[in-house]
Amino acid sequence: MPELLDVIGRTPAIRLRNLTLDGEAQLIAKLENTNPAGSLKDRPAWHIVEYAERAGLLRPGGTIIESSSGNFSIALAMIGASRGYRVIAVVDPKLTPTNRGLLEAFGSEIVVVDEPDDSGSYHKTRIAYANRLHREIRNSFRPDQCFNPLNSRAHYRTTARELLAQTRRLTAVVCTVSTGGQLGGIAKAVKERAPHVAVIGVDVWGSTVFGGEPHPYLVPGVGLSWTPSNLSDLSLVDRVYKVTDEDAFRACRTLVRSEGLFAGVSTGAALTVALAEAMRARPGRQVAFLAADRGERYLATAFNDDWLKAHGLTTATAPEGLRARARELVPHSTRPAAECANHRPGLAAELGCPSIVLARSEWR
Ligand SMILES: Cc1ncc(COP(=O)(O)O)c(C=O)c1O
Repeated sequence: MPELLDVIGRTPAIRLRNLTLDGEAQLIAKLENTNPAGSLKDRPAWHIVEYAERAGLLRPGGTIIESSSGNFSIALAMIGASRGYRVIAVVDPKLTPTNRGLLEAFGSEIVVVDEPDDSGSYHKTRIAYANRLHREIRNSFRPDQCFNPLNSRAHYRTTARELLAQTRRLTAVVCTVSTGGQLGGIAKAVKERAPHVAVIGVDVWGSTVFGGEPHPYLVPGVGLSWTPSNLSDLSLVDRVYKVTDEDAFRACRTLVRSEGLFAGVSTGAALTVALAEAMRARPGRQVAFLAADRGERYLATAFNDDWLKAHGLTTATAPEGLRARARELVPHSTRPAAECANHRPGLAAELGCPSIVLARSEWR
């Protein structure tokens, strides 16, 4: 009989029935929200903790410290509860009551960092604070999803290989980006094993993963103020898109109403782009995206009409609205390696991150 952590991964991939028309490609959703803690982050969280246990970086009774207000902390909180580790989540004031409730349910401790960084977000100050705690607390471990290459290795070894085995006529795979774990890992595996498949990145306007001007945005889970090191090789990415808050919120609402698939806001961002690609691809081909987390996490926001109206977002859920937007959407860049790189090579050291470097042979 498997234990809880043994059932992470091997998620189903399903075909959507209603959002595309005859003559367009099929949309395929890989259901990462069926993982036990409810998101795509269960895979890298467990991959990194398993590695740390084997390497002696995390010993029995130890403490896991991570900077994350969302799914990665929740995944670590589940793992900590199952394996007997204390978990400290370093979060920012944008932590939603739902995520706070989930972290507390798993028994995780929460530390709020309320000093914004130079981009107006909290990513850098949170990471620096988590690193400081790690230096102060004995027998502690920093998974460091942002700079640890094991994040993308988890998706390289599992998510991408599963998806390629589950599809026969895949023409494109669409991934949103924050730490670059999913896009970096999936791009590497796809270009090694099925180079004809287009790899497509999605960021949100206001985030500068692919360069541009920073400004506040509402989509949770997507975006960063630099190109993450887990996405070091942008030449593996064929094209990138930027979507608006309205796109992402509208699409996750349309998805649950039109298909019955209840997923979060980043899934809406990916779906908007996947639909744009499917409308232009050859009939019978498949365009895949990840259903990254569970819709329940957004009952107070994306699935609450009052919240949407208060933030100036549409409450529309008709498929025609999503299709009209997808039809007009064009890539932000078709040459991201040449046009979009916004890497910050010295940043990990500047923020005091522990460094894990993988040899080429360790990717297999
Ligand atoms: C719901 C959701 N979607 C997408 C992402 C982005 O994935 P990645 O960090 O692998 O780039 C995250 C990351 O936290 C997330 O929580």
